[in-house]
Parts: sequence; structure tokens; C-alpha cells
Amino acid sequence: MKLPRYPDMEAAEDVLARRGGSLGRPLEVMDETGSTNDDAKRGARDGAPHGAVWVAEAQRAGRGRQARSWYAAPGESLLASVLLRTKAAPARTPQLSLVAGLAVRDAVARRIEPSRVRLKWPNDVLVDGKKVAGVLVESIIAGARVDALIVGFGVNVHTRELPEELSSRATSLSLAGATDVDRSELLADVLAGLDRDIELVAHRGLGLVRARLAACDALFGTEIAFAEGEGGVAAGIDDDGRLVVRRSDGSLARVSSGEVHLVAREGAAREESR
Ligand code: BTN
Repeated sequence: MKLPRYPDMEAAEDVLARRGGSLGRPLEVMDETGSTNDDAKRGARDGAPHGAVWVAEAQRAGRGRQARSWYAAPGESLLASVLLRTKAAPARTPQLSLVAGLAVRDAVARRIEPSRVRLKWPNDVLVDGKKVAGVLVESIIAGARVDALIVGFGVNVHTRELPEELSSRATSLSLAGATDVDRSELLADVLAGLDRDIELVAHRGLGLVRARLAACDALFGTEIAFAEGEGGVAAGIDDDGRLVVRRSDGSLARVSSGEVHLVAREGAAREESR
């Protein structure tokens, strides 16, 4: 398959070696695959080490959260999965998933004015309110422990045109004004963020990154619907990684999974995550 390929993934191995860090070795860069998360899962079962990374220029069956498919124009995105052999209790997975989103958000915020780049709970990265990157964290559990964590992320990088059905709620770094992004460096930044925070949160919880999460919380203060007939105003993220929602009667709900929707103001489009 001939891809309209940008050359910026070709130096990935050198860039990661120069940057150091414990993630990114071994690195497999493929023209096409089914899903890099599936490659990483297979790798985990076959004994691949902590830090192994799979990158693809195109995916035939890219997956998103909530069993959705993940669209990415071939050769224009950063599509990667990293295998983390982090020992953690399964109950920590939601916190780790948040922190994975933070690593991607911070890498994007090195290329776009940081105040424009926010994290929509649990781990969608938005620029000016539109989704630029998504994160899919999957875990392999052995007994009472997480044996392996697969952190997959897709960042829309060079894409200039999105399918019509996505263009009102998705964007790319290029469309947002960052036209000279090097995907190898972007990958290295995400891995550096994961390297710094994942072990910390796995062992000590969210406490040390709570302030950073709060500073880029896309939902804080907005009205959201989170379950059939349930809604309120988002009031932050708690220590367990749950979204705190203040209902109109003042009581607090804590949302631990599933989908949240922004409630459309009159005349505004309803935004849903994907
Ligand atoms: C979401 O926002 O729903 C998560 C999207 C995650 C997409 C990435 S692309 C690389 C990795 N491989 C996959 O199949 N999914 C993740």
C-alpha cells in the first residue's frame, strides 16, 4: 500500500535513543496494521518488555473507547501503543488512564498555545474544544494485579481535511496552526510524560498530578449529562479519578465510567465524545 507518507516517522528510533528514557525500546514502526493496541497486547502475551512501542502509519481496525472505531487518515497521524509492565492494582486503572491522557495533552501543549489545549475527562485531548487526540488504555490482569497496561494513543497531526461528519468536533495539530510538527519528537514527548508520571500514580495515586489535571480540565464548570436523565455541573476530578458532578440540588455525583455529554446551550451543537 502506497501511503502519502510524511517522512517524520523515519527518524523515530534515533530520536528516542537521543532523548533517553525507559520507554520506546524496542520500537516497531509499520506502514499498516490492524490496531497497534492489538499488536501491543500480542507482544505483552509473547513476553515483550516494559517500554516496547508499536507505531503504524495506518490501521485497518483502529479502536477507540466505548467500542468505537478510530478514524485516522493514513500517514498523517501519530498512531502508537506502548506496553507498560507497571505493577498496579486493577482499581488504579482509571487513574492511569487519566494520566495517560495528561501525557498526550502535555505533548500537544508544547506545540499549541497551552491554554487552548485541554483534557476532557477521562482522556480526550481537545484544542479549542475540538478533539485532536484520543487515548485507549487496556489492561491485562493476572490474579489481583495488572500484569500489563497498553496505552494506545492517536493524535491527528498533519491532516488538513477531516470527514464532514467529524469536522465540527475534531481537529488536527496542523488545522490548529502547528504545521511543522515532527511525529517522532511528539512520540518522544508522550513517552517522556508517561515515563515520568505512570509509576508515580501507580504507586502513590493521583495526588501529585491533581493540580496539573485541574489546570487543563475541559469540563470544569460546564453543564453535563452523564446518565439517563442525570446531569449537573462538572466540579473536578477526585482522588480515584472519578468525575465529580454537582447536581442542581447541591448533592455530588461521582462518575466512574461511561460517557459524559456536554449539554448544548440553546442554539449550540451538542458535542459528544468519541
Ligand atoms: C478514543 O478517543 O476513543 C481513543 C482512541 C484511541 C486510538 C488509538 S490509535 C492507536 C491505538 N490503536 C488503536 O486501535 N487505538 C489506539
